[in-house]
Amino acid sequence: MAADRGQFSSKFGFIFAAAGSAVGLGNLAAFPVGAAKNGGAAFLILYLIFVAFICFPIMISEFGIGRSTNSNPIGAFKKLSKNNALWTKIGGLAVLTPFMISVFYLVLTVWVLGYFILTVFGDLEYLASVNAFSEFVSSPELFVYVALVLGVMFLILNGGVKDGIEKTAKILMPMLAVMLVLLVIFVLTLDNASAGLSFYLVPDFSKINGAVVSGALSQAFFSLSLGMGILITYGSYLSDKTDLVDSAKLVAIADTAIAFFAGLLILPAIFSFNPNISPDELSTSSVGLIFMFLPQVFMSMSSVIGYFGASLVAAIFFLAVFFAAITSLVSLVEVPVAHMVDDKSMDRKQSLIKVMSSIFVISILAIGSFGMLDFVTTLPGYGGAETKSFFDYIIDMFYETILPFIGFIVCIFTAYRWKFKGLSDEIATGNSTYKGSFLEKYMNATLGTIIPLFVLFVFISTVLRIYFNIDIIQMMFG
Ligand code: PHE
Repeated sequence: MAADRGQFSSKFGFIFAAAGSAVGLGNLAAFPVGAAKNGGAAFLILYLIFVAFICFPIMISEFGIGRSTNSNPIGAFKKLSKNNALWTKIGGLAVLTPFMISVFYLVLTVWVLGYFILTVFGDLEYLASVNAFSEFVSSPELFVYVALVLGVMFLILNGGVKDGIEKTAKILMPMLAVMLVLLVIFVLTLDNASAGLSFYLVPDFSKINGAVVSGALSQAFFSLSLGMGILITYGSYLSDKTDLVDSAKLVAIADTAIAFFAGLLILPAIFSFNPNISPDELSTSSVGLIFMFLPQVFMSMSSVIGYFGASLVAAIFFLAVFFAAITSLVSLVEVPVAHMVDDKSMDRKQSLIKVMSSIFVISILAIGSFGMLDFVTTLPGYGGAETKSFFDYIIDMFYETILPFIGFIVCIFTAYRWKFKGLSDEIATGNSTYKGSFLEKYMNATLGTIIPLFVLFVFISTVLRIYFNIDIIQMMFG
């Protein structure tokens, strides 16, 4: 029953919650790294095209699937496919994936919280030292931080959809935006900031190649929280009055705006303290950026604003990242929780305890796989790597591989099983101008053709790259 499952209080409550899910580490770390390494504004333009023409239609479909069935992904696929066993199983994948990704995301969130706490206690100088990160990821205090983060998540999720998820997003998202704007203003006043700005904003199209195109699509997908059953689940808490098109537009704009602002913060910050840095020296990954590179950048600010000032800037940054991450984490955990509530007749608290204790156990293994627990640190490798950690297994299988696969499935399911009539009727409830609009024509023409083909290509090339060490994109596009 919709009433028992909970509902967002209004369209804006829903938009805040969905934006809370979308805005996360993908925006604050992965996007600036992607832009920095891949041609600045050229990457941004590509990213915007993918958000508008590929991700936006998928987002609307996910909202529609959720709202029309009032159900988590398993129930949703089951209902719309009229109890087809295969589709129901695929729905299961859209519940298992966020569950597993929540483990990987939890580990990163725990690190962010740890960095925030250490900075507040005056340890920025230590965090900026060369070995800090590797020492930090294998320090036992992480288990205390995990308990803290899980405690906060429990409190939020136990409040339910309206008083937990929605309320938290309504408080944290504006705070995050304010902190980000303050940091951007501060950074832009620094000497040399303009070097970072022009590096970010002047497009370099020569950097765009097949790998960059595929990377930009994956990035947009992850950043908008697509392909995880999350938007299906959040859509299921919506009233019929809500305009799905409008909501999707606002969520996509908010998500993109925060990513863009994060670039305005991070690249000028890096350039003002390392004016001669070449793009190749920038960190290779978002994890490297946040945890290894930025502490050094913050530390070097102390020559201008003192150690206290530098620690303050760093603390605000880590707190902002933590806020972004926790609202995303909550959305990941909501999917399996909704499944237990809907399909296993459990109450919310029971399902929360079950889901979160499983996440706790698996996350111990994931945290231990950075050296503290041997048996999960060196698992058999694949795709050219001799060994892989349990953490790598989760990222490779669920984040890199299954996520685009579910995106593909959502398109195919919508186009060929639910069919466009169902989709159009659902969208038109709450949007009287949808039928006959350009958007309807665009969705009907592409959701069963170009969009899934594009996503399928990303999926196949990722599988070949990760598991077989074959770079098909390099082979095709050079
Ligand atoms: N969209 C979030 C980010 O950008 C990550 C995320 C993906 C969260 C999928 C929930 C679900 O970091």
